Amino acid sequence: MVFTEAEIRKRMQKYGTVYFPKDIRDKEDDLIGIDNNKEILEDFFKSLDKYQEYAQKLQQVRITPSITVLLYGPPGTGKTSLTRALAKKYKVPMCIVDADKLVSPLLGDTLKNMRNVIELAAEIAKENKVFLLFFDELDAIASERSNVHEVGEIKRGVISFLQIIDRIDYEGIPLAIFGATNHQNQLDSAVWRRFTYHIWFGFPHLSIRKEILERFLRRLEKASIEVESSIFHRLLNEEKELLLNFEEMKKKSRKLTLLDYENNLKKETGLLSITVGYTGADIERAIRVSLLKAIQRGVLEYQDLINAMEFVGGTRTHVEQQSVLSRTEGEITEKKISNSSTKKKPRDI
Ligand SMILES: Nc1ncnc2c1ncn2[C@@H]1O[C@H](COP(=O)(O)OP(=O)(O)OP(=O)(O)O)[C@@H](O)[C@H]1O
Ligand SMILES: [Mg+2]
Repeated sequence: MVFTEAEIRKRMQKYGTVYFPKDIRDKEDDLIGIDNNKEILEDFFKSLDKYQEYAQKLQQVRITPSITVLLYGPPGTGKTSLTRALAKKYKVPMCIVDADKLVSPLLGDTLKNMRNVIELAAEIAKENKVFLLFFDELDAIASERSNVHEVGEIKRGVISFLQIIDRIDYEGIPLAIFGATNHQNQLDSAVWRRFTYHIWFGFPHLSIRKEILERFLRRLEKASIEVESSIFHRLLNEEKELLLNFEEMKKKSRKLTLLDYENNLKKETGLLSITVGYTGADIERAIRVSLLKAIQRGVLEYQDLINAMEFVGGTRTHVEQQSVLSRTEGEITEKKISNSSTKKKPRDI
């Protein structure tokens, strides 16, 4: 029995958002500077089509290809958009599972939800030839088991998750399981190992940021919003200058990468310099902010973009602030633990 679209939507919506190829608006071409990741994932999607045929043959010799992919890296770097864009291109229906809908404070419910969603997806994949289940914020359900602060519920959830993935692989079901995380260090090592592909999404370097900016600006022009032409010239000049500097510095230190060079840039005034540590999503957000000014005035100016970038801020700064915060929280918790353990110690006589 083949599942209809309506049935899939109805049964899956408890766990997340369902996307059929026709619902998806993300386009591979809009995502800049992640060509390696595109290539790996394209190959993956192409082979999905033939998966079942080979999986059945390989099962006889007790080898089954595992179709699990882990996407990791800072927020807003294209993990979800690229997956969706390729799912559209290769006509693979998918569900983005919402961690909030799985993790429940009620004992046993998280486990049950996890089992249910994977089993439902496996059933759909078997009947409809293929399905993709995307676990967003995988760390929320698959944190390090050895972490003393984690509750037993999550530990059991992780184990159950691993067992189900193993079974799906073993049975050769054409269900692609994707996981995405911004906190790869918190992932349980066994979960990390279960994913066959590990794909890193990093911060874009200056030439990529320039291209992302230009793409967005061209789109505005297409929508008949005037963009000051000096913006394009200034971007070009700034890129040239920074790259020349980089080449000079590279002569002294040959291992220097463009990203290292950028990380040591002094705070300067150009668009490319102030956007070090900005993701594609940050740039997109800033363009939206600057757009309001442009609409008021009828033209988008260079300074509008600078102001908007500063207003929005870069993800790297937020990530660093967060890690300082969680480090401090960790220290406080550790202090509490060590204090309480000193209290419990029998008094020396
Ligand atoms: N490399 C890129 N080129 C152009 N635009 C990008 C790029 N990366 C991200 N964006 C923009 O940012 C938006 C958000 O990206 P997306 O949701 O895929 O990020 P993500 O990595 O899944 O983030 P999160 O970890 O928060 O889920 C995209 O729709 C796109 O407009
Ligand atoms: Mg995402």
